[in-house]
Amino acid sequence: MTLEPSSHPGQLSPETVVVAAGRPAREHDAAVNPPIVLSSTYVGTGKVVDGDRAYGRYSNPTWDPLEDALAELEGASLPALVFSSGLAAASAALSLIPAGGVLVMPRHSYQGALVMAQELADKGLFTLRIVDIANNDGVIAALTGAGEKAADMLWLESPTNPMLEVADIRVLCRSAKAVGAVVVTDNTFSTPLVQKPLELGSDIVLHSVTKYLAGHSDVILGALITSDEDLRHKLLHHRSIHGGIAGPFEAWLALRGLRTLALRVERAQANALVLAQRLDVHDGVERVLFPGLESDPGHERAEAQMQGFGSILCVEVAGGEAAANALVGALRLWTPATSLGGVESLIERRRRHANEPESVPVNLLRLSVGIENVEDLWNDLAQALDAAAR
Ligand SMILES: Cc1ncc(COP(=O)(O)O)c(C=O)c1O
Repeated sequence: MTLEPSSHPGQLSPETVVVAAGRPAREHDAAVNPPIVLSSTYVGTGKVVDGDRAYGRYSNPTWDPLEDALAELEGASLPALVFSSGLAAASAALSLIPAGGVLVMPRHSYQGALVMAQELADKGLFTLRIVDIANNDGVIAALTGAGEKAADMLWLESPTNPMLEVADIRVLCRSAKAVGAVVVTDNTFSTPLVQKPLELGSDIVLHSVTKYLAGHSDVILGALITSDEDLRHKLLHHRSIHGGIAGPFEAWLALRGLRTLALRVERAQANALVLAQRLDVHDGVERVLFPGLESDPGHERAEAQMQGFGSILCVEVAGGEAAANALVGALRLWTPATSLGGVESLIERRRRHANEPESVPVNLLRLSVGIENVEDLWNDLAQALDAAAR
């Protein structure tokens, strides 16, 4: 028996899409969830044509429901492409820059993406122009080239990791388009529930699915999403040939995690706002970076292009690097660890990583606020701030 179909494109709110997208056909006795398909190859005899699964590096049925769900959430007309990690996705995106081309990139992009771009530029594959992404005039000058070659790609990350600068996505996408540059927006911090870069003019959206989308700190996975057939074709080709593919188990876990994205994001954002406000008036904190605070330089832009302010915040701890380390060491509930976007609250001093740019202060702690009770989170921070001040 076949029931009414479960597809309803464009009719459902994102909170429902995360639950309903990518479900198997609603047939009597069918599984409610898509299965994990473990096969490295597929039966076939004739000529292999476009769309055939053929081999496990080209396609896997376990990717499909996740790719459909991510496309629907980001408002794309074509299925997403999942990759083995966020950086594998970044590598595919950077491969779109023609030899001798120009990439414009925020100085506080995720450091892994920055290192990758810098290394490719050092090999002479393209020219890298590093910009303060919050400064429209500076970015536009880098795009047009001011007498030099115009840009081929604009990399956006907003808010940036870890300085939480907010880019004027609409304006910068228009300027990029005017010079023919492809725009890639890393939407990892915001998730499609909070920010929709394709609607704001971006050509491609990148996710470290590892973070909020999967949501439980147990998966490494990435994704690219676009409505442009030519770009998607090139990115798919890159994935198939370079082999940065998702494992079926990771793809399955990510879709499972995605089901609760709306609840997790809502709770984590609410927690982050409360903590940011309290930290902002605490003597042990010199500065809070969080676009949700009215005093934050990115607040107005964030309000104009985001629905909420995300749940990453940074603090500069009074007393410098030693006090920041002491604070982290005194925490009992918060886990000292890199990464972000899981259900559990994580904290780290970003400059402990050798590659972190020197413009990131040594006393800066990045907090990935989870979904625990906010008073428990606050009490732990407050006692650790006291301990660090002693
Ligand atoms: C904003 C952002 N983009 C991309 C990445 C890279 O993702 P992955 O670790 O899944 O390769 C990260 C990882 O921390 C990130 O924070």
